[in-house]
Amino acid sequence: MEVNKVYTVDCIEGMQKLIDEKSIDIIVTSPPYNIGVRYNSHVDNLPYEDYLNWMDIFGRLCSKILKDSGSLFFNIGDKVSDEFKAFEVAQRIAKSLTLQNTIHWVKSIAVPEYDINIGHFKPVNSDRFLNNCHEYIFHFTKSKSVPLNKTAIGVPYADKSNITRWKHGTSNGDSRDRGNVWFIPYDTVVSEKEHPAAFPRKLPEMCIKLHGFNDKTIVLDPFMGSGTTCVVAKNMGCKFIGFEIDKEYSRMAMEKLSQKKISA
Ligand SMILES: C[S@@+](CC[C@H](N)C(=O)[O-])C[C@H]1O[C@@H](n2cnc3c(N)ncnc32)[C@H](O)[C@@H]1O
Repeated sequence: MEVNKVYTVDCIEGMQKLIDEKSIDIIVTSPPYNIGVRYNSHVDNLPYEDYLNWMDIFGRLCSKILKDSGSLFFNIGDKVSDEFKAFEVAQRIAKSLTLQNTIHWVKSIAVPEYDINIGHFKPVNSDRFLNNCHEYIFHFTKSKSVPLNKTAIGVPYADKSNITRWKHGTSNGDSRDRGNVWFIPYDTVVSEKEHPAAFPRKLPEMCIKLHGFNDKTIVLDPFMGSGTTCVVAKNMGCKFIGFEIDKEYSRMAMEKLSQKKISA
């Protein structure tokens, strides 16, 4: 199995043929959501049952290639008019792995009481549905008992007297468990993006830190797109593998990954 490489391949074939069993530490990925995004080659509009069956096979293969201590961070969003889809997909994957954490990725939030109005979202043109300002990151493991490095993405205590009060595994100095709601704004507005559905670099970075990593850690993104996960893994000193079905997106990722230290 070759690492530090991206392949232009269907990820189902890639996971079947190119990855050893129980060899991957962390999978961070975001599949097509089946909501009609205009990708170069993938048609994001499969019959719903076919889409769910695809995710079923995907989950089975993730389970096969993950180490027993591994983590799958699976990012998926919804249409506001179809709020059950993310859960139905998660249920398919849960046939092969267990759901250890459900993380809410908040892309935009307004808290006028605290003078906060931050992040980007695509406005929904509807008098029935609210703007969609969040997505899910389902964290799957094999056993539901994979220890995490929570303080690696921790937040400082608001009340500093808690630094000494909470002397248990969930705090480390002035860093406490941030919880399962992560505010991560897009790096740029959508129209400037090079790929129609890239996630911000901070997303895979937080997932990799939360799982824990070192220079032997192997990170896979089976739906690599523009290569965000692989770029982040490389910058963090991990080993990476990416699969992408579209030649042009693969080329974009390879170009970025050929740089020594990849800037924004
Ligand atoms: C939501 S995007 C991923 C974007 C990525 N997270 C990024 O930051 O650029 C999903 C990607 O999956 C790719 N894709 C669709 N079907 C695939 C398949 N069977 N195997 C591998 N990649 C596939 C699409 O071309 C698309 O680039």
